[in-house]
Amino acid sequence: MTGRRRRTAVLISGRGSNMAALLDAAADPAYPAEIVLVLSNRPGAGGLARAEAAGIPTRVIDHKAYDGRAAFDAALDAALEEAGIELVVLAGFMRLLTPGFTEKWLGRMINIHPSLLPAFKGVHVHEQALAGGVRFSGCSVHFVTADMDAGPIIGQAVVPVVPGESPDDLAARTLAAEHRLYPAAVALVASGEAALADGRTVYAGDAWTRVTLT
Ligand code: GAR
Repeated sequence: MTGRRRRTAVLISGRGSNMAALLDAAADPAYPAEIVLVLSNRPGAGGLARAEAAGIPTRVIDHKAYDGRAAFDAALDAALEEAGIELVVLAGFMRLLTPGFTEKWLGRMINIHPSLLPAFKGVHVHEQALAGGVRFSGCSVHFVTADMDAGPIIGQAVVPVVPGESPDDLAARTLAAEHRLYPAAVALVASGEAALADGRTVYAGDAWTRVTLT
């Protein structure tokens, strides 16, 4: 990989295991994203300690301190601008974002969701998958648009569903797949090998094979 590394913020709300996988990948100077900020909307998010231990600047913007989504998103945007952020990576960030914010960062903000989108959006995803009786679940990385869990898909990983397993079991195996998929997908977007064009994800050559995991 050649060229300048993209200044990247990882946004979390909780334990931050996907963030940790990204920090591990970005520890390689050849990785095209440099994580320069970990930002949480929850002061107690477990991932903050992990980021601090890795020497990454952290910031908390507590949504409870803001009067409404637009005010929170304005504070978020200001923090990202202040840090010179070029790529925003949502990793278990459990806040809905306003259309003004998603429009501004369109093509420069991505999310991971623990299902094979467009199936099973929102919360209680693994319960939804098991109730749906699907034989395969998995995870998806997508560009963030105004509609929740609906932006153009960048990459997916497939996880077979074991008959009779619990939502927690499926969640744990899906999480392991997320930790493989997300670093690969962030690398593609940071390097420009995957980009948003006319509402679709376009890839350089066979780069898509690195984010199409079975
Ligand atoms: C992950 O499974 C992620 O896909 C999910 O939250 C979990 C966060 O775990 N995100 C969503 O459901 C977003 N719609 P982590 O904090 O250990 O990365």
